[in-house]
Amino acid sequence: MKTPPASTAMTLSTDGGGWLSKCTTREPGSSHSSGTLGSSASRRSTAWGVSMTVVPAATTASALPASSEGTVYLSNGSGGQRPSTKFAGAIEAYGNAACTAKALGFDGVEIHGAHGYLIDQFLWDQTNLREDEYGGDIGRRTRFAAEVIQEIRANVGPDFPVVLRLSNWKQQNYSARLAANPEEWAAIVRPLAGAGVDAFHLSQRRYWEGEFGTKANLATWTKKLSGKPTITVGSITLDNSMAEMMRGQGSLPENNLAPLLAGLERGDFDLVAVGRALIANPDWPHRVRNGTPFVPYSLSMLQTLV
Ligand SMILES: Cc1cc2nc3c(=O)[nH]c(=O)nc-3n(C[C@H](O)[C@H](O)[C@H](O)COP(=O)(O)O)c2cc1C
Repeated sequence: MKTPPASTAMTLSTDGGGWLSKCTTREPGSSHSSGTLGSSASRRSTAWGVSMTVVPAATTASALPASSEGTVYLSNGSGGQRPSTKFAGAIEAYGNAACTAKALGFDGVEIHGAHGYLIDQFLWDQTNLREDEYGGDIGRRTRFAAEVIQEIRANVGPDFPVVLRLSNWKQQNYSARLAANPEEWAAIVRPLAGAGVDAFHLSQRRYWEGEFGTKANLATWTKKLSGKPTITVGSITLDNSMAEMMRGQGSLPENNLAPLLAGLERGDFDLVAVGRALIANPDWPHRVRNGTPFVPYSLSMLQTLV
């Protein structure tokens, strides 16, 4: 890691109940004050950010436990709506976390807004039934994500890379879609690009699969619609997806690099993320370059990571 930049100051102390972190990289002139990670609001908000609770659309707000965490409180007009001021703390927590990452010397942050995480819960019309300014049409459902990105950008300054991971599917439902067509997807990614996203990471199970009934994958569409660089991912040099792997099926190496390289050369997307194949082959880039056969990935390899 790098030495923290001179413009970034962070104090860490413990009050016996946990770490307190005062992040002070916020840009001068910003309207928000810097926050404290140790505050109860921030702790609660951080817990939302790492959990993946998705509430079925049929669930009413009144049926939800009052103190449930990791849950977007749904509203169908029956009350129980979480007031906006409640999740101002969540937005601030994202900013503080990014600020802390910068202060610790990391080179950038990637915010998880894909398949079921908090940001995605706001984006999807099946989980976001709010009737306030954070719910409604696709533009209003994007507001929470945009405010998170704005907050992060205000905290880390203009030159610190901020990547946002999105998907158009759910881990619990592969056929679910945030956006049915490129116009709806543009309504999500354009405001987010404007809010300060430097690059989008588009989660797919198989990178070669097209989106919106076209041959272009989601990374290609997102680059085209947002004007930002994109990262593609999914079963690169593998014969099956993460989902099949989790069902206990093996994953043999498969040389499916040709469409990937063609896409990179055409500028369809800019970067490539490799998951399981890299766990099985830590020297993956060298194997690609030299044409060396890949080692198959198996679930048991995860035990070697801890
Ligand atoms: C061990 C492991 C843990 C993962 N954990 C997460 C996770 O917490 N959240 C997530 O969105 N994706 C997670 N993924 C999915 C990867 O980010 C990636 O999208 C997926 O593995 C597809 O890439 P691959 O086909 O090259 O493996 C995980 C993947 C692996 C192998």
